[in-house]
Amino acid sequence: KKTVEKRDFLTLLDYSKEEILNLIDEAFKLEENPLQPVLKGKTLAMIFEKSSTRTRVSFETGMLQLGGHALFLSSQDLQLGRGEPVSDTAKVLSGYVDGIMIRTFGHDKIEELAKHASIPVINGLTDLFHPCQALADLKTIYRLKEKFVGVKTAYLGDGNNVAHSLMIAAAKVGMDFSLGCPKGYEPNQSVVEEAQKLAAETGATITITHDPIEAVKDADIIYTDVWASMGQESEQQKRLVAFKDFQVNDQLVKHAKEDYHFLHCLPAHREEEVTASIIDGEHSAVFEQAENRLHVQKALLKELLA
Ligand code: CP
Ligand code: NVA
Repeated sequence: KKTVEKRDFLTLLDYSKEEILNLIDEAFKLEENPLQPVLKGKTLAMIFEKSSTRTRVSFETGMLQLGGHALFLSSQDLQLGRGEPVSDTAKVLSGYVDGIMIRTFGHDKIEELAKHASIPVINGLTDLFHPCQALADLKTIYRLKEKFVGVKTAYLGDGNNVAHSLMIAAAKVGMDFSLGCPKGYEPNQSVVEEAQKLAAETGATITITHDPIEAVKDADIIYTDVWASMGQESEQQKRLVAFKDFQVNDQLVKHAKEDYHFLHCLPAHREEEVTASIIDGEHSAVFEQAENRLHVQKALLKELLA
């Protein structure tokens, strides 16, 4: 169906600093001027193997605002859920639609889908990465701080998909990043190494520590995510114990800059990874951050599908 080389969005590692900054810039423009029919007649297939509020609604709304259409496809309803190969699904969908967004478990599955699809594949979250979230995070941080260089973002909690993408995003744009996690819940070592290589080029620092106070020391941004991600529900009780010193609360934020901002990709569990006093308090920008999913993904859709 497609003749020109297609481009996927599986991880920010595949995008240059300049491309990332251009997407953020375009997102600000789309926020100002949201209705642009650049995707008239185009369709995005959205495959969900996990739950979603923000990703589903922002992609579906974004496609409509760009003049296109989005199809919500639960994997339970697709033949994929009954064992049809990912490769066949990729080839079939490539004959109907102009792009695929997928939320799934193993990152190898999205790579397989992208390999066999002749149309762009967008990562709507895998166990390894959540790059659309990191784009929204960057846009939010830029709006709040008006720069990246010299900004310190501290991530507290699990070294998970959200942490990986945020770490890469920070390294790409030259923002300092520190991650505080309990022993045994560190981010993926090869992702950390990639981020450190990138950081060496941009002048960012990447710090991994088991001390929550050290992590948030003088931070401009404090970020957290759930302690048990989708697919880890059976570890919930064990993780509540392991992560208890990493809760973002009134005591911990005293170590950050006085004018720090709080971010969370959502959904949040109040009184677990963050207290209500923080997430519902005056330093929190979580709903602006959630809204930014819409603006950055529209920039991405415009770039990949138009
Ligand atoms: N932050 C995020 O991806 O939210 P959903 O799981 O609701 O899509
Ligand atoms: N780390 C979380 C993010 C949800 C948006 C998860 O994977 O469930």
